[in-house]
Amino acid sequence: MKKIITLNVNGNDYEIAVRDNRTLLEAIREECNFTGTKQGCDVGDCGSCMVLIDDIPIQSCLTLAVSSQGKKIVTVEGLAKNGEPHPVQKAFDDCGGAQCGFCTPGFLITSKNLLDQNTNPSVDEIKDALSGNLCRCTGYTKIIEAVQVASKALN
Ligand code: FES
Ligand code: FES
Repeated sequence: MKKIITLNVNGNDYEIAVRDNRTLLEAIREECNFTGTKQGCDVGDCGSCMVLIDDIPIQSCLTLAVSSQGKKIVTVEGLAKNGEPHPVQKAFDDCGGAQCGFCTPGFLITSKNLLDQNTNPSVDEIKDALSGNLCRCTGYTKIIEAVQVASKALN
């Protein structure tokens, strides 16, 4: 039996019908059509499904859609403002921080949150913040560099 719920995603309300066991990841991809958030491991290990929930990066594969009502959800599609990419998106592009790109939305969400909390993070702080995000392609060096470049742009 499905329930009608309202999710606030990227500043807009979406009224959707979901079963109790529908994950937030499935709901934002399949009911709200924000497919930037990726379904990787589906068990909380890879970070490709990371979204901001009330400004905290959370694995949407481990979160139920029904428990996400009344919260402010931001996906990678919500990072750009007025048609301009967020500085962290521009830095990933400029530094080659994405290769296949599958992990990138999760990294962008986590990096944006880190820079909101700490505008000048050290390399160790960047590594610590991104420790829940896995990438099979880049070797991480360019990702860390991109966060440093974004940090300089924001300062
Ligand atoms: S898909 Fe959610 S952590 Fe991997
Ligand atoms: S760029 Fe391919 S998994 Fe990270």
